Amino acid sequence: MATYQSFRPAVLRDTLDVASDVRLFSIEPEHGLSSYQVGSHIDIQVMVNERPEYRSFSLVDGGQTEGGVYRIAVKDRPDGHGGSRYLWSLEPGARVMISEPKDRFPLSHRGHEYLLVAGGIGITPIYGMARALVARGVDVSVLYAARTQEQLAFAAELQELLGDRLKLFVTGEGQRMEAAAEIARLGDDAELYICGPLSLREDFLREWLAAGRSQSKFRFETFASSGKYPDQPFDVRIANRDMAIRVEKDQSLLQALQVNGVNEVLYDCEHGECGLCTVDVLDYSGKLDHRDVFYSDRQKEANNRICTCVSRVYDGELVIDTSRHLVDTGRADA
Ligand code: FES
Repeated sequence: MATYQSFRPAVLRDTLDVASDVRLFSIEPEHGLSSYQVGSHIDIQVMVNERPEYRSFSLVDGGQTEGGVYRIAVKDRPDGHGGSRYLWSLEPGARVMISEPKDRFPLSHRGHEYLLVAGGIGITPIYGMARALVARGVDVSVLYAARTQEQLAFAAELQELLGDRLKLFVTGEGQRMEAAAEIARLGDDAELYICGPLSLREDFLREWLAAGRSQSKFRFETFASSGKYPDQPFDVRIANRDMAIRVEKDQSLLQALQVNGVNEVLYDCEHGECGLCTVDVLDYSGKLDHRDVFYSDRQKEANNRICTCVSRVYDGELVIDTSRHLVDTGRADA
């Protein structure tokens, strides 16, 4: 749980810009590195509006700890919630607080053929996976899209690693991944790993299932910030407390609840995965933008529960009940 996990001091040793809007940070923990699996991430404390918050970043080295540092790649988001801006403001020598690595996007050891798909900063875990799979000597290919050529991070390294098993897409020039065709090329036992925006994952998952493939071989990691609608401030009435709060554009609903003293809502992952932060939706207007991966599509369509750590309201308001947050957090039909 973000408030209970132990953070340890570390020092920012170096930074390197690896794309026009992606910076690589090398971070040395004071108490030495822990071993980790490819696909792992660390949490870092950032200061946003003078408050400590936490952000998760995938480790790019795939378990190959180089030079006694953890390396993460951070996309500059001038319109984001403030975490990336804070990190981009740091100079080498800055002290930061980091968690131990956590394995949230594990790579299987049994596959013989892998398709790795990345959109934008989603390349971070995919890059480490590609290196690990090449080192393992299995069949791996990578599809990687960014809006401009300059935003393709690690493109030269991937090209050298993969040759013609790498396909790059510049979406700003109209280049698009053809999910159905890419999946059709794969052998029956192939596995697919994807990290990128929600729409990319949905496209590939739809085609994957339409091709009759097993969902257990489709693995993904999400961005908490990737919703169907842009971030906007919205108002929330908490019916069981008879109070109203405002969720700012750069705040999650969970953060707004905490700032306003509504502390009964538990949380853990803060990425829409564990379901611990969910509350009842009693009423809403506008669109509920469900950004979690905890609830199934059918449960999301019911619009009667919401993951407060990531999901939002677009063009409307929300009425919730926070008193039943411990009840029914299981996936009824996932
Ligand atoms: S804290 Fe895990 S889903 Fe919100």
